[in-house]
Amino acid sequence: MSDLVTRSPGWSLPQAAYTDADVFAADLDRVFAAHWLFAGHTGELDAAGRYLTVDVGRDRVIVVRGEDGVLHAHHDVCAHRGSRVTSEPRGRVKAFVCPYHQWVYALDGSLRAARLMGDCFATASHRLAPVAVREVAGLVFVCLADAPPDFGAFAAALEPRLGPHGLADARVAVRQRYRVAANWKTLVENNRECYHCAGSHPEFSLSNFDVGMNGDVRTNPRYDRALAAARARWSAQGLPGEDVNFPAGAWYRVARLPLRDGFVSETLDGRPLAPPMGRLTDPDVGSLRVVSLPNLWAHANGDYAMTTRLTPVDAGTTDVELCFLVARDATVDEDAMTAVWRATSEQDWALCEANYAGIASRGYRPGPLSPVVEASVEGFLDWYVDALADPPHARSA
Ligand code: FES
Ligand code: FE
Repeated sequence: MSDLVTRSPGWSLPQAAYTDADVFAADLDRVFAAHWLFAGHTGELDAAGRYLTVDVGRDRVIVVRGEDGVLHAHHDVCAHRGSRVTSEPRGRVKAFVCPYHQWVYALDGSLRAARLMGDCFATASHRLAPVAVREVAGLVFVCLADAPPDFGAFAAALEPRLGPHGLADARVAVRQRYRVAANWKTLVENNRECYHCAGSHPEFSLSNFDVGMNGDVRTNPRYDRALAAARARWSAQGLPGEDVNFPAGAWYRVARLPLRDGFVSETLDGRPLAPPMGRLTDPDVGSLRVVSLPNLWAHANGDYAMTTRLTPVDAGTTDVELCFLVARDATVDEDAMTAVWRATSEQDWALCEANYAGIASRGYRPGPLSPVVEASVEGFLDWYVDALADPPHARSA
């Protein structure tokens, strides 16, 4: 148990876990800097020199496509006197040129030139410090730890389930950013239960059942029949039938859920807006949910996918980037494509901000979680408290 955060099983966290600056610093250090973080999409890095940056507290990581087609990730810290070498959050370069004294770095991070450093200067001895990076099924992850946790089991779960959706060849059609006045854990908890869905998400509830969510232990024969019939259809497209739901308390979930009768996509009228993506041949693939703690959730429908990436700013502030992806050559009605998830996300941010305002106030005490529909919140809080007490890099040491 962490000395910073103690919790009673079955209850929400104490106030300090959400509001305290020391806990927030530990969250950055032991959770965000210690785990794999969702960084972006393959489609944003589709040519040599195309890069994006990811901020994690004081750290900034550059992810760039190399001349060899391989992704590289580097700390955005010049090896001379430490300046940032990028000035834009994304772009395309032939090389990274530090704006301070113009040291020049190749895409692979090696130092190519350093002016006025004397005859004895060993250019090859200096470089941008590398960061671990992985790319799977069109999603890109980085890890700041020197010894990152295992990525292989997650990749093995993700590739056969998300790979057929073709996100590796998709484009980000719409990018929407939000600043939410709430602790990042409030947003993750909200994502881990649908207790609030019927009351707050009319657009989401058109296409989604209100049972069958992760952590909902209610039985519902109608849902079970819909799932069995859907899995029979999905298997005809070669999609795996079994879901992967935070195995042994792990940090990831990849699960395909059926949509309500008459809905083949999470759109307002249930109709797909574009032909099936990737290798899918039938648009009726339900919605594939991907969760990667601590900063990603995604829904992949047959015609479009949505990713949500969290960036903690301070204890009471979280930046969110919502991206909508479609096949590279597809033309879609962007308003129709974003209608469900823009509305649902904005409803969630309002819920999270009201939740956080109460948590941060004098009247807050930890409250009881529902054993019927909030087991997944419990699972997240267990994972979080364990990560804080015993981060993966400490475990492998
Ligand atoms: Fe980058 Fe001097 S700090 S070249
Ligand atoms: Fe919600």
